[in-house]
This record gives sequence, structure tokens and C-alpha cells, in this order.
Amino acid sequence: MVRYLTGIQPSGILHIGNYFGAMRPAIELQDKGEAFYFIADFHALTSVHEPQVLRKNIRDVALDFLACGLDPDRVCLFRQSDVPIVTQLSWILSTVTPMGLLERCHSYKDKLARGAQPFHGLFAYPVLMAADILLYESDIVPVGKDQKQHLEVTRDIAAKFNEAYGDILKIPEPSIREEVSTIPGLDGQKMSKSYGNTIEIFLEEKALRKKIMSIVTDSVPVEAAKDPDTSTIVSLFRHFASPDQVAEMQEQFRRGGFGYGHFKARLFEAIWEYFASYRSRRKELQADQNYVDSVLAKGAERALSVARQTIHRVRVAVGIEE
Ligand code: ADP
Ligand code: TRP
Repeated sequence: MVRYLTGIQPSGILHIGNYFGAMRPAIELQDKGEAFYFIADFHALTSVHEPQVLRKNIRDVALDFLACGLDPDRVCLFRQSDVPIVTQLSWILSTVTPMGLLERCHSYKDKLARGAQPFHGLFAYPVLMAADILLYESDIVPVGKDQKQHLEVTRDIAAKFNEAYGDILKIPEPSIREEVSTIPGLDGQKMSKSYGNTIEIFLEEKALRKKIMSIVTDSVPVEAAKDPDTSTIVSLFRHFASPDQVAEMQEQFRRGGFGYGHFKARLFEAIWEYFASYRSRRKELQADQNYVDSVLAKGAERALSVARQTIHRVRVAVGIEE
């Protein structure tokens, strides 16, 4: 069976851009093969330096995925750090990783350009990511296009290792998700936590309404006709409403006589309704103190059993185990 593996960084609260761009596609894949999904908490240490925040994010990511339909009986869901063997493989891989390969990574350079400190962990991030992928003998790694280069690095590292020590590591195939559409944020730019323009999936009612009301619009007066094609409200609404409902909103934009407040209220209702069943599921799961822990413990056990076999082969191959 084909094994899909992907990592989710617990570096913030999940927003509707993450939902349509990453969560929903990952959840849909659970029916297509054997899925291994992990919460990349070692990776998140490169950007989250507050322990309380990290702890909360880790639980919230697990809860959010489970609430949105991830089935822990079909998916092996685990925390990266519950299988510390991955850091051992990461070290071994780093001994066959040319510096130039990492120096060329855009993601590292972009992060520095945006003010991140040049820490070794940030630089070595792609090696740990290679270890994640190679440890679990992944066939296919579904990621967004920002991670494409990291997958190429993974393949290069695996090839270097195999060249040096024999055919030990399985070389994975990338699967780059087409961004069907980029979800815009409150200000009309791509929704991203780095831009502070996000709408989180599980906001309380009042907070969600307030966010929707703060969507930036132009100052065309109520009675005048408005352009639906350039409106952030309409582009968001498309994801939560039927084609008929979208057509109706577009028509009202063009007709005039409706203010932006009216359209924002419609959008709020649509989003609130869209996530209603996930919200109640999330409440139920949250009420059971042990649920998330037990899912993650079961996932870790399964992940560990695969990891132990790979690390054994690697250790024998490099000569530190008989
Ligand atoms: P952020 O930009 O908020 O930091 P991440 O980079 O952590 O989000 O996003 C994780 C994944 O979520 C991305 O690889 C991408 O697939 C998806 N994603 C994030 N923002 C959007 C968006 N605005 N539209 C579509 N997909 C998105
Ligand atoms: N770097 C990925 C991101 O930022 C997360 C990640 C870590 C990952 N390890 C991985 C993704 C292994 C796929 C496979 O989104």
C-alpha cells in the first residue's frame, strides 16, 4: 500500500487558508492509502520559543484535525518528538549533506530576510525534514509548493546516503499540491499568520463576527453599485456557499442598495454554519481529557515500530551497530 507522509508545524492557530490549502486535502487522502501525519514539534522550535504556547499549539493542531474529520483509525497521527530516533537519523544524514545544498534553500534565506536569527536549527531544518521522510519509508509526500525545494533536498540526501552505504533508504516522490486557490485574508493579501490577516477556524462567535466585520473594503456608498470581482468578501464567500448563493451576492453587489456590512453578515453566517458540525465535534473531543493523548500515544507506537527498523538498517550500514 502507498504510504503518504506529511508534517504539520504547530507554529500557530489553524486558519481557513490552512483548512482549504492543507487540512482538507490531507484529510481526503486518508481514504487513498496508508497515511502517516505528524505534528512537527521539533521543527516548530525554530520559530516558537514560548513553552506554554508550543504546548497549547500541539494539542490544538491535533484537536483541529480530529474535529475536521481526520480518522485516527485510518491515519497514524503522532508527534514528531515522540519518536526521538528521528534526531539520530538527522545527525547521520547531516554527515552526508553538502553545505551547499542547504545554503541554496530559499526558505532559509527568506526567513533571514524577514528578520529571523541565523540559528543552526533553522539552517539544518531541511535535514531534519529529510529524516522525517526517510525514517518512515514514505512513498509520497504531499506538501504545499513552498516545501518543494525541501523535498528535492530530501531526495538528494537520500541519494548521497545510498551512494555511500548501499541501497538503504527509500527515495520518496513529492506530490506538490496545486494551490487551487489562495485564500485571501482580511486585507485581501494571501491569508497568512505572518501577515496578521487570518480568520481562525474555531473562533468563538463574537470574535469571528468581529474579524469578518474588519475585512477591508473600499468606501463605495450603500446605494451605489459595487464590483464583486475584486471583493475579498465574495472570494471568501465562494468557499462557503453554493454557486446560487454566490450568484445572488454578486447580483446584489452590482445592483447597489446593499452596504458591505450586509455582505459581511452573510459571509459570517456562511462560515459559522460551514464549521458548525466540526465545532461541536471539537467540543466533544475536548471534553474528554484523555482522548487526544490516547490518539497520539497509539500513533507514536505505530510510528516507532517503523522507525526502529529503519534506524537499525542505517546503523548497521554506517558501522555503529553489528
Ligand atoms: P502561514 O502562511 O499562515 O504561516 P503555513 O505556511 O504554516 O501558513 O501553511 C501551511 C500550509 O497551509 C501551506 O503549505 C499551504 O498549503 C496552506 N496555506 C496556508 N495559507 C494558505 C492560503 N492563504 N491559501 C491556501 N493555502 C494556504
Ligand atoms: N516543513 C513543513 C512545513 O513547514 C513541515 C514538515 C516537517 C514536513 N517535516 C515534514 C512536511 C516532512 C512533509 C514531510 O510545512
